[in-house]
Amino acid sequence: MQILSLLGVLGGLLINQVTAVSKFTPARPPSLPLAVKSPYLSTWFPAGSSGGNGGHLPGQWPTFWTGQITGWAGLIRVDGNVFTWMGNTKDIKTADQVAYEYTSTRSVFTLAVDGKVSMKITFLSPLTPKDLKRQSLIFSYMQVEVTSMDGSNHDVQLYTDISAEWVSGDSNDVAQWDFGTTDGISYHKVWKQTQMLFSEKNDQSEWGNIYYATDSTSGLTYQSGADTDVRGAFAKSGKLANSKDNNFRAINQNWPVFGYAIDLGSVGSTATSILFSIGLCQEQAIQFLGKDGLVVLPSLWKSYFSDDVSALSFFHKDYSESSKLSTQLDDKISTDSIAVAGQDYLTLTSLAARQAFGAVQLVGTSDKTYLFLKEISSNGNTQTVDVVYPASPIFMYLNPELLKLLLDPHFENQESGHYPNKWAIHDLGTHFPNATGHPDGLDEAMPLEECGNNLIMVLAYAQRSKNTDYLKQHYPILQQWAEYLVQDSLYPQDQLSTDDFAGHLVNQTNLALKGMVALEAMSQIASLVGETDDAKNYTTIAHDYITKWMDLGNNKNDNPPHSILNYNNPNTHGLLYNLYNDRLLGTKLVPDSIYKQQSDFYPTIKGSYGVPLDTRNQYTKSDWEIFVAAIAETETRDMFIQDLVKWVNETPTSKPFTDLYETATGAFPAGIEFKARPVMGGMFALLALPIVGG
Ligand SMILES: *[C@@H]1O[C@H](CO)[C@@H](O)[C@H](O)[C@H]1NC(C)=O
Ligand SMILES: *[C@@H]1O[C@H](CO)[C@@H](O)[C@H](O)[C@H]1NC(C)=O
Ligand SMILES: *[C@@H]1O[C@H](CO)[C@@H](O)[C@H](O)[C@H]1NC(C)=O
Repeated sequence: MQILSLLGVLGGLLINQVTAVSKFTPARPPSLPLAVKSPYLSTWFPAGSSGGNGGHLPGQWPTFWTGQITGWAGLIRVDGNVFTWMGNTKDIKTADQVAYEYTSTRSVFTLAVDGKVSMKITFLSPLTPKDLKRQSLIFSYMQVEVTSMDGSNHDVQLYTDISAEWVSGDSNDVAQWDFGTTDGISYHKVWKQTQMLFSEKNDQSEWGNIYYATDSTSGLTYQSGADTDVRGAFAKSGKLANSKDNNFRAINQNWPVFGYAIDLGSVGSTATSILFSIGLCQEQAIQFLGKDGLVVLPSLWKSYFSDDVSALSFFHKDYSESSKLSTQLDDKISTDSIAVAGQDYLTLTSLAARQAFGAVQLVGTSDKTYLFLKEISSNGNTQTVDVVYPASPIFMYLNPELLKLLLDPHFENQESGHYPNKWAIHDLGTHFPNATGHPDGLDEAMPLEECGNNLIMVLAYAQRSKNTDYLKQHYPILQQWAEYLVQDSLYPQDQLSTDDFAGHLVNQTNLALKGMVALEAMSQIASLVGETDDAKNYTTIAHDYITKWMDLGNNKNDNPPHSILNYNNPNTHGLLYNLYNDRLLGTKLVPDSIYKQQSDFYPTIKGSYGVPLDTRNQYTKSDWEIFVAAIAETETRDMFIQDLVKWVNETPTSKPFTDLYETATGAFPAGIEFKARPVMGGMFALLALPIVGG
């Protein structure tokens, strides 16, 4: 008793001594989203212990999702003393981070500077799923608010800059820059001197212009030049020279930076706030092999704005409206997530939202719009069907029309005869932003997986949008894919599933189930378009198959019983995530006993951070964990959610929310680092189900 209470006192002392440690609410993610808006505007802050500093904005550089630095600095002078509030600026003391908090659209840091002023820095990457004009803009906000925290007024100057690292993934490349004003806004414009249209280095884009803008207030000064010069000028005097460095050079040669200083004057207890906008303007976005052959698709914002600067100006001045819309979205996701499965579930959905949208981009024109997706990190494929599929719950939940915009280019490419195989294509291009298809038919074949995914997503879309014309329009190719499933779903050939890192396998139970549910989906599609004979035929086949699958795919004699990884392999198991489709579509093909069997089984094989994907490895896929959680009984569902939240807080990884990790350690599997992938849209699996999503 005495020992215990002494420990309690010691614990209390320890906590008192470390008051400078930041709080993290609702969790401390592996990497904190800062400006995350598209595959090419994707700046994060590494937090996890392997490569991150715990999530403290002062003292470390922000990075692109891949890990290379995108220099973004913040300094503040308080009564003549200078402190760093963002980045790893040399020889300058750091402010103390007090708190970090995130919502679906915001990351908010609270800092204390020298015990004198408090700073609140809000990174807002707006999401407007139903407002395509706003969603098309590849920009993000940073708002900085400063308040006195000790009752006295303080003399304050604020500073921030970006480096040229934002314009290329290779810091040996030469950058060029300019400074301008428009409509009450000042902006730095930075670009790669030799533009390389549609090219990437280290996943960063090598074309277009980066803008960093703020209001042209009376206390504003600006400067471009070597990092030490510009930051040094501010540290010394609190202002910049209003000058431009005309020596265009390599990004890493005396590191040119593009800075602003703002004299806030005497700061008291009323918050003074300054707004910055950062973004990327690329007029040309995607090369697409569609019905008119190979075409260049513009960024969608080009349909609304004549040029970069008018887009920038609209975005910057839209802050109060955009912020209001983002709060509405934050509130919607919060209310719905908590209602369906509590705060822990919200911790996951709100972390996933920007990441999922950050992998897609609206392109085309306002009368022919597409949503293009980059697979991200597993490889750079464009519009991968088995990546669109796990990502799709967030789109079904927030605006099913976005799912249509993802599927449209697939239909267009394949219906125009650009793909020779009878099954569905895997992706629309080997590397984003090239959606140049696979006219040779030599894509990474996942025939059953992709035919199934397409039929499932198309029906899910039609159910939610009531757009049965869409089914009519594409009926022939849907039927072609269904015919493939008739051949291959009962005894799937040796092939890859979406979990391609685990290798080929024959007779995969979970894959077979996808095909069978997709055949039942085809029956419903046929009904919706009035093809009643087809409808009868497909449902007969689906029911025949599922009856056989009950025996082939399950080990009923084990205690507890469970589905098996593949037929004739009774001592195996795996996450039966394709069962989710039966609930998503309301097909009711699979008996309730299978749902119960799996729900009872998973808790018996769990590791510290979740349930292994299958018996071949100890790693798991977080997207598939949420798919199985979504259809499990409450206790099992909450187990999955709680283990994932524990993972978010404790994982040593420091890259954006991975979907592949070791269940025992929470680390990446050896040699595979999946990160920042759109599949995190799958966190919304509970909210995409008909009972909730409607
Ligand atoms: C896209 O295709 C172009 C040729 O049209 C090529 O120069 C570019 O490198 C490709 N982009 C990527 C990221 O592979
Ligand atoms: C697939 O499973 C079926 C049913 O058990 C079996 O007849 C067939 O041989 C299996 N295929 C392979 C290649 O093992
Ligand atoms: C039912 O579908 C199978 C497989 O596609 C096909 O072979 C058969 O002719 C169809 N039967 C009818 C009555 O349409």
